[in-house]
Amino acid sequence: MTTSSAPGKIILFGEHAVVYGRPALAVPVTQVQATATVSENSRGGIMIEAPNINLSAELSRLAPDHPLAAVIHSVFSTLSISNPPACTVYLQSTIPVASGLGSGAAVSVAIIRALSAFLGQPLPDEQVNALAFEAEKLYHDTPSGIDNTVVTYSKPVYFIKRKPIKTFHVGAPFTIMIGGTGISAPTKESVGAVRKLWEADKPRWEKVFTRVGEIVWNARQAIERGDIAELGRLMDANHALLQAMTVSSVELDQLVEAARNSGALGAKLSGGGRGGNMIALVEKENAPEVARALSSAGAKRTIVTQVA
Ligand code: PMV
Repeated sequence: MTTSSAPGKIILFGEHAVVYGRPALAVPVTQVQATATVSENSRGGIMIEAPNINLSAELSRLAPDHPLAAVIHSVFSTLSISNPPACTVYLQSTIPVASGLGSGAAVSVAIIRALSAFLGQPLPDEQVNALAFEAEKLYHDTPSGIDNTVVTYSKPVYFIKRKPIKTFHVGAPFTIMIGGTGISAPTKESVGAVRKLWEADKPRWEKVFTRVGEIVWNARQAIERGDIAELGRLMDANHALLQAMTVSSVELDQLVEAARNSGALGAKLSGGGRGGNMIALVEKENAPEVARALSSAGAKRTIVTQVA
């Protein structure tokens, strides 16, 4: 039997613009995890058990482009295994789905690692990342690759599409409060909506994406210097540009406002938007107050994570 776990992630800065080649900053969230366990079974065939999503099926019964089936097939084909042994792939996850916490990427990474280890040929990180990226394309058509990268390496990353991975130095640890709207919002839809805007007026949106890229660069420097106040201002500025891209929502804006009004140093939506999560930069001692304010403003869940 083999087991592997992968963390969730949040995008600190730069979502959406990252799809158009600008940088983004993301960090792992180890408080939530996806775990895959692969074990021999005596009934034959390859079984997938994922109670979180009410799935219990034989691999051969799932469409080949089902994200879980596709990940499993990709491991077999990478390892040139044409007659895989009978086994059960059991999945458990505490990462909320379709909410910007990288659940799809974490599940893929956990399966790839557990299954390749079960088959006696554990794959190196670079290949795990590449296969998880292929699976991300099934969740939404044009992923930047940021989710699979942060989740595979489980480190803070400064990410630019198709460029080598760069991690960054954190000058002083800081605390992020994640507030969930409870609204599940497929990334595919918000990415598609931004693409429509861009197609209708490329010069205008390229300028907006460039401005986001500058914010990301300044945020990276603020993190390296440990300049938390500046980091908060940059979050607010990034949120305003995401609102312009139409990927915020009434619920997200309410949570962002509530966080700012209860003493957060800055706040923004995180991930695809239109639901899912927002994040707020908080002082540790102020975290309980911000969490209370978020709950009264409608947050269905709050998670505190330390970036160090
Ligand atoms: O919704 P999430 O956290 O999976 O993030 C999507 C991030 C986008 O920039 C909107 C899309 C992408 O592929 O980078």
